[in-house]
Amino acid sequence: MGKKAREIVGVDLKELVKDLDRAYCDEWLAYYAWWYMAQAVEGKGYEDMAEFLNKIAKDELEHATELAERIIELGGLPTNRIANLEKGANGPYPGVMKKLDDYDEIIKLVTTAEAGAIEVYQKIAQKTFGKDHDTYQLATHILGEEIGHEETFENLK
Ligand SMILES: [Fe+2]
Ligand SMILES: [Fe+2]
Repeated sequence: MGKKAREIVGVDLKELVKDLDRAYCDEWLAYYAWWYMAQAVEGKGYEDMAEFLNKIAKDELEHATELAERIIELGGLPTNRIANLEKGANGPYPGVMKKLDDYDEIIKLVTTAEAGAIEVYQKIAQKTFGKDHDTYQLATHILGEEIGHEETFENLK
């Protein structure tokens, strides 16, 4: 991103990059937990549950990619150490189910984290609305998908 393009961003760039990097860390944690549960899940109909989990894991990885691209465009760098992903995130690591066939717990872990993600992107969208169109567009795009994730898993209850 060039000088002029950065100039027209109407929000504090450092703060925005930090917000985006926190979200970036959240995405990796969510990706890992959803992916892990997709591999490990057991029980009746586990293939369907694995498919739902794999689908949202794939989305989170895509979100991490999109956030990294935007952070770099804005002149920043995303968190570069695995050990710092948890420290840098907005929310705690979602964790995985204790019993591999405990669908209630899986649903709870996912819906709790997705609710947190919805809040994060809502805030970024509000902050950038009318000030940084590209980040706003990215935040609302991701927000729409997080809303879909919450809904999918709420409907599994
Ligand atoms: Fe996400
Ligand atoms: Fe999500």
